[in-house]
Amino acid sequence: MKRTKITEVLQRQDFGTEVNVKGWVRTRRGSKSVNFIALNDGSTINNVQIVADVERFDAEMLKQITTGACLSVNGILVQSQGSGQNVEIQANTIEVLGVCGNDYPMQKKGQSFEYMRQHAHMRLRTNTFGAVFRIRHNMAMAIHHYFHEHGFFYFHTPIITGSDCEGAGQMFQVTTKNLYDLKKDEEGKIDYSDDFFGKTTSLTVSGQLEGELGATALGAIYTFGPTFRAENSNTPRHLAEFWMIEPEVAFYDITDNMDLAEDFIKYCVRWALDNCKDDLDFLNKMVDKNLLERLNFVVEHDFVRLTYSEGIKILEEAVAAGHKFEFPIYWGVDLASEHERYLVEEHFKKPVILTDYPKEIKAFYMKLNDDGKTVRAMDVLFPQIGEIIGGSEREENYEKLMGRINEMNIPMKDMWWYLDTRKFGTCPHSGFGLGFERLMLFVTGMQNIRDVIPFPRTPKTAEF
Ligand code: 4AD
Ligand code: MG
Repeated sequence: MKRTKITEVLQRQDFGTEVNVKGWVRTRRGSKSVNFIALNDGSTINNVQIVADVERFDAEMLKQITTGACLSVNGILVQSQGSGQNVEIQANTIEVLGVCGNDYPMQKKGQSFEYMRQHAHMRLRTNTFGAVFRIRHNMAMAIHHYFHEHGFFYFHTPIITGSDCEGAGQMFQVTTKNLYDLKKDEEGKIDYSDDFFGKTTSLTVSGQLEGELGATALGAIYTFGPTFRAENSNTPRHLAEFWMIEPEVAFYDITDNMDLAEDFIKYCVRWALDNCKDDLDFLNKMVDKNLLERLNFVVEHDFVRLTYSEGIKILEEAVAAGHKFEFPIYWGVDLASEHERYLVEEHFKKPVILTDYPKEIKAFYMKLNDDGKTVRAMDVLFPQIGEIIGGSEREENYEKLMGRINEMNIPMKDMWWYLDTRKFGTCPHSGFGLGFERLMLFVTGMQNIRDVIPFPRTPKTAEF
């Protein structure tokens, strides 16, 4: 008999029909005469209740129905007497597809997220992680829908690259060289001419530079792919491998860029509210009681827009009024998460877009303002998260861009192709990067970024 997914079974009204469901046992309870089995197949957070009259089944088989076991059940769809659900299944035949020993790591309820991380291969079967990863899929779909509907082309940028987009030197090197037998020249330098690509290469930290090539040809593109940062940041907001969405648009200035960022992120949050109701209700109940309120708030309110300098003034006033920050605040400082969250959560109580940062703390490609001190950068700051998006208007003037590159000592030998965009028909353009897992943190209310990606990579952890 053809299997029906549980999400579909729970919608049906044709009581009396025979169906087949397959899934994993969440709980089993019952009396001498009847057993109730809660079965879940991952298609929804909701379980279907299987009712089994004990006398109709082999006692040895029934004993195998433990939490985590995998079953195939044929039975009759009946209207449920109990509260909560409309539908249950009166079992005719039960086949145990996979028994599950009592060393199953997800057996007990209420384990800590820390414990579940250590069993990330099995945590997918829990309610919380099922909800998180169904939402993750939905967010990916929302992103593709948004850009497709708005005339952006999905543009694939390389994972292996010879250039460091952010210029921060936090790259994972890629080599096929035999590390046990490294040859060095007279100066002690390694010769890469005989390495796989004939030069040093790394995993990309951002697809932006190639994205700019796409935008200045196709008009509007977005990337959506994995990015890698070898930064030794053990925080609840950093991963060594994360997914980034980077739209890049020709003829956009920073205001267009801010409008795009705000509209795009609201679209994604609305998508979650519209398409992930059961999972969000669950997370709102079990993980974060203010989640739905926060999501609705973001969709319904304009983001506050102000300059970095204005932001610093507010933070300085807070300090003067007695607010204690861990890190000092002064014009020129790179804002810490506590500063960003103060602006968002305490001062404005709204998402904030901060613009025009000091050039010293931002990347070389950002457009220099007329003051010569600040660049047309924009960071979108969110409640609970801090920075969720970073972007800018790009420096399209060849001489000014070269000036910044020289000031910052960026090695240009591998970036000639990027400079060509400024030589051949240069144009104003802008873009930004949204950290997919930061968006996921916001949308799910989860506290740790390791819990919104199936198999997190962080310093000293690459299990699974
Ligand atoms: O601010 P970032 O470094 O900007 C860029 O990479 C630009 N090239 C983007 C662009 O303009 N096209 O990173 C962008 C976003 C951050 O705002 C943050 O959400 C996320 O990427 N991010 C990380 N997420 C998880 N773990 C990390 N280690 C992250 N580093 C950045
Ligand atoms: Mg940034």
